[in-house]
Amino acid sequence: MTEPLRIALAGLGTVGAGVIRLLDTNGELIARRAGRAIQVVAVSARDRSKDRGVDIGRFDWIDDPAGLARHAQADVVVELIGGSDGPALALARATLGAGKSLVTANKAMIAHHGLELARAAESGKLALKFEAAVAGGVPVIKGLREGAAANVIGRIYGILNGTCNFILSKMEAEGRDFADILSEAQRLGYAEADPGFDIDGVDAAHKLSILASIAFGTQPAFGDVAIGGIRHVIAADIAEAAALGYRIRLLGIADSSAQGLFQRVHPHLVPLSHPLAHVTGSTNAVVAEGNFAGRLLFQGAGAGDGPTASAVVADLIDIARGEFGPPYAMPADALAAQAPAESGVRRGRAYLRFTVADKVGVLAEIAAAMRDAGVSIESLIQRGASADGSVLVAIVTHEAPERAVAQALERLRGSQALAGEPMWMHILGD
Ligand code: NDP
Ligand code: HSE
Repeated sequence: MTEPLRIALAGLGTVGAGVIRLLDTNGELIARRAGRAIQVVAVSARDRSKDRGVDIGRFDWIDDPAGLARHAQADVVVELIGGSDGPALALARATLGAGKSLVTANKAMIAHHGLELARAAESGKLALKFEAAVAGGVPVIKGLREGAAANVIGRIYGILNGTCNFILSKMEAEGRDFADILSEAQRLGYAEADPGFDIDGVDAAHKLSILASIAFGTQPAFGDVAIGGIRHVIAADIAEAAALGYRIRLLGIADSSAQGLFQRVHPHLVPLSHPLAHVTGSTNAVVAEGNFAGRLLFQGAGAGDGPTASAVVADLIDIARGEFGPPYAMPADALAAQAPAESGVRRGRAYLRFTVADKVGVLAEIAAAMRDAGVSIESLIQRGASADGSVLVAIVTHEAPERAVAQALERLRGSQALAGEPMWMHILGD
């Protein structure tokens, strides 16, 4: 057998410790598959004395993670610290600058700096691999870069955040509180260091921008993703959606057309007839529509130590075999710059939820705003007064341009009839 592939590992938290555990458990099989052993030689984290459930005493300890890039024995650096900039980016730049390949699970860093890092990797004929950055253990990047490489992909969409899906499906099944379920997701190691990134849709947006770039051959454009999260989804929305035949899921959706590049993360009503309605817990699922392959569905565990470590080590196996191409499936300089698409002209059905005062004329005022904007109502549910005297009105519209729905809501802004901000969710079409 040839020389081992020697790894320097930065970050020994959920994912980093998972990688060491995986290599300890499956090392022999991996060596046979890769044609050489994969061996950790050096590690770095903040606290050397922390118990991580794995023996790190056998590796060189380096205080400054960027020092791993200069480690004499290391062939490849694995960055599992997190954060778009700071020590993660410093290490990534130092690694590629030192002529070493880089594996990372850091979607924030790739979403913000992926193009720069890909150019550096390509010019040095090095690998830059980030399978774990999108959908945890699901090989969706590999699926797009390799399996679907012959297709024009028109649209890609799916459930890209395990924490949000865990929260929404638990709220749905157990009627529990949002905050209580978020703490459980944090305990299970699903959430980001700042869980606001999860629940406000930013983490899913990072992943969507990476997928869109690979799927469409366009330059990564995280800044153009329209982002919404699940913070304002309430139990009543979940109940009304269920009564109407839907489940609520945080979806990332991207398409590329003559109108431009469209990228949006937002809670959606997903019809029960769609496979994404049945994806529960921290599972992720991504649908890619290829012009020859048809609809491809990638699904599996989207977060947590084991699945994420599995994706990191799969990247290492590719590098050990010498199998890697350009990070975005085509050379970075061949990626097209595409302008963002205008969302107002998009047509779709909408779910609107209003909390209103229980008094005469309120429904007529909402209906008039919809009529004046040219939005036709398909169904309407009104629930009786709650303790504070407010009433919940949930509306599903017929298909209409998004601009018209926005106009209807704008007409109602400041109305005395409304108690609080209306909630607008898109309904996933075919
Ligand atoms: P953790 O917070 O569990 O671990 C982060 C690690 O980085 C810790 O070991 C920490 O050290 C170390 N670290 C933090 N700051 C520094 C610093 N300034 N210098 C040196 N080391 C530092 O994060 P995760 O393992 O959950 O995530 C790691 C990466 O993987 C992130 O990019 C995340 O987005 C990504 N990811 C995570 C998934 C998950 O399910 N958790 C899934 C997919 C991707 P110490 O332990 O000493 O404090
Ligand atoms: N916080 C992320 C999630 C981890 O919940 O999906 C996986 O990327």
